[in-house]
Amino acid sequence: MHTTDGNLTESDLRSKFLQQFKKDVSDGLNSDPKTLPSKYFYDETGDDLFVQIMNMPEYYLTRCEMEIFTEQTEHLINEFDLNTDEPFELIELGAGDGSKTIKLLQRLLERGHNFHYNPVDISANALQGLEDMLAEKLPELKVKKQRGDYFGVLSSFKGDTTKKVVLFLGSNIGNMRDEKASDFIYRLGANLNPGDILLMGVDLIKPTEIVLPAYNDSNGITAKFNLNLLKRINRELGANFDLDNWSHAPTYSEETGIAKSFLRSDVDQEVYVEGIGQDFFFEEGELIHTEISRKYNDEILKDIISDTNFYYKSKIQDSRKFFADYILIRK
Ligand code: AVI
Repeated sequence: MHTTDGNLTESDLRSKFLQQFKKDVSDGLNSDPKTLPSKYFYDETGDDLFVQIMNMPEYYLTRCEMEIFTEQTEHLINEFDLNTDEPFELIELGAGDGSKTIKLLQRLLERGHNFHYNPVDISANALQGLEDMLAEKLPELKVKKQRGDYFGVLSSFKGDTTKKVVLFLGSNIGNMRDEKASDFIYRLGANLNPGDILLMGVDLIKPTEIVLPAYNDSNGITAKFNLNLLKRINRELGANFDLDNWSHAPTYSEETGIAKSFLRSDVDQEVYVEGIGQDFFFEEGELIHTEISRKYNDEILKDIISDTNFYYKSKIQDSRKFFADYILIRK
């Protein structure tokens, strides 16, 4: 297994993580308006809640992309323009449970392509689960699991001229502001060679009646997901957020295509965060911005790409045109 943090032990990694967590919470709660980064949603509980979110009737994103991978597998592969005798590395950033990718992997094997599948994740557990599942379902697949952060793993391929196909699915890019998304895509490209491919799944702009319920489900799972961030700060940074005093407050603007999640303080309150050594005051109705989930159209996507080292080749959409997988080529 490859790790990208050299010889750091689990406990070194943990203390490095905690330092950053404290800094991010301190910066966010000391800013005006207050914010907290969505990347901290994903502790063990958050991971479980996100799996529940992906299975909710309101959360159409996962099913739409699954439809593309199931119904248009051949189309997807043809867009990669690969000869069966051309070896390549298929790299998936944030591989999750691999349920969409397995359709693609299966078809690539059936067509006789010569490739390794490199799922990248920071969670050793997630990677092991994925490797076990693939060993059972696709025993002939060559899997090289890559534990670490995306850029660390990609830079380990630098100098390797084998063609790369990078998957970044699930509209994960939508959790970044546009400028950050451009920078992120540019940095991916900096580790790739001309002609390499980035397949990026994004949610598309559509009416509020469809988008908003995906972030405000009737069973309150997304609310739990958002509130779990405060629970995590209580547990890991010794804070005393009273969860009964907070509610989940999502918004969506069809005009901008941006969904936002907030935590709303339901009373005037003071919270102490021991790990930071500071009290924070919240007024009744005050919001902490916790997440952005951007929706796209061609114009927005092409604008983001124009600041990077990729060009747009094509896109594949689901039957309702709710979601798109964009095929981008490294210049
Ligand atoms: C991971 N990411 C693409 C999800 C999204 O749709 O923005 C996270 C999420 N937040 C609330 N529900 C799902």
